[in-house]
Amino acid sequence: MTMKRLFAVTLILTIGFAYYIYIPLPSTVSEPWKLMLVAGTFRAVMQMGTVAHTLGLIRDIDVLSVVVGTFGLLGPESSENLRVSDTVFAGVEVRVYQSTLREVGELKRGVVYIHGGGWALGSTRSGSYDLLCRKLAEDLDAVVVSVEYRLAPGVHFPVPYDDVLQASRHFLRPEVLTQYSVDPDRVAVSGDSAGGNLAAAVAQQVAIDDSIAIKFKVQALIYPVLQALDFNTPSYQENQNVPMLHRTVMVQFWLKYLAADPEHLHALLLNNHTAQDQNQVASARAKVDWVRLLPPSVQKQYKPVVQPRGSPRILEEVPALLDPRASPLLAEPDILAQVPQAYILTCEHDVLRDDGLMYGLRLQEAGVTVTQDHYVGGFHGCVTFAFWPTYFSVGMHSMQNYIAWLDKNL
Ligand SMILES: *[C@@H]1O[C@H](CO)[C@@H](O)[C@H](O)[C@H]1NC(C)=O
Repeated sequence: MTMKRLFAVTLILTIGFAYYIYIPLPSTVSEPWKLMLVAGTFRAVMQMGTVAHTLGLIRDIDVLSVVVGTFGLLGPESSENLRVSDTVFAGVEVRVYQSTLREVGELKRGVVYIHGGGWALGSTRSGSYDLLCRKLAEDLDAVVVSVEYRLAPGVHFPVPYDDVLQASRHFLRPEVLTQYSVDPDRVAVSGDSAGGNLAAAVAQQVAIDDSIAIKFKVQALIYPVLQALDFNTPSYQENQNVPMLHRTVMVQFWLKYLAADPEHLHALLLNNHTAQDQNQVASARAKVDWVRLLPPSVQKQYKPVVQPRGSPRILEEVPALLDPRASPLLAEPDILAQVPQAYILTCEHDVLRDDGLMYGLRLQEAGVTVTQDHYVGGFHGCVTFAFWPTYFSVGMHSMQNYIAWLDKNL
């Protein structure tokens, strides 16, 4: 091949590659080309999975496991300052990270961590979550319990919620805390995305359940999913095509989690399930009323999407859409008043931004102390992009602030 031809081929491949990964992004998003590269890689793996499925090489549900598998699953490797073990709490698999920095017998802090992934993806063993929990345990000199709750589509709501609740209930038993040398007054619950949803829901249940004597001291929610009534909040409208989480993908995760007919996707995107002719949602709708709950600077030019007439069949078929165990933002004020102090991390370029902002305000209205930590350059998932090779400055920065908040408040 002549140099000229080699140059031409390289140029065409480069343009083709740039065209493949290019997506329009908001100007304030952190490190846009890197984000496109990561999202493009993710997309390529998904597409290869789909091709393999079409060719009959793998089953449909395996496509996602292939994707997750690509990003690596790690064994429970201990290090000098950390003992890592896989065990079972009340029938639920957990991975426990114990800092070994302190003398035996000295009490440590505890964190129940719940990974994200749309209730369908991810694992305590996947690279970024394993690294995050290691860092939490080491930096906080704590015991971190990462819960391997079962995933959709194998199970549906309320199974993942119940798994996290049972594992938490077990860890909060006095004799178990003693066994791990954890201070009963210093246990947190935390999670990101769908894990933030489970953390918020379980924090509510633990707070009101009289059979659980030891309570969580704090909850730390990282871009949590909190409601399924309005898929047209300003953040859903504004960021519908921003990686790492597109609006339709989030709605599909909800449909899978709640075992709903995938055909309802378009009706949900239109807010047909919460139309005005459905009186049974009037009080729930008020809890996600973003015209009241969000400052004008967040609402921008966006208008509420309220259908006069909708699809009443959906709420009949999927009553869990109104269940606060699935949508913690729908909890009543007397429940919210009992939950622990909260840290809520939100990202500007994230469909879930307004879920987190609204929950923060509703908690404050109920008298709960809330720290809102908002990232203008942030995108969904950034906290797990704080490690090599997918390292973002906003990821590193937000992860450090999250850990610093826990260090100060737990
Ligand atoms: C939304 O509801 C309206 C009124 O019932 C109906 O005509 C329309 O087909 C629904 N849209 C979808 C996508 O289900």
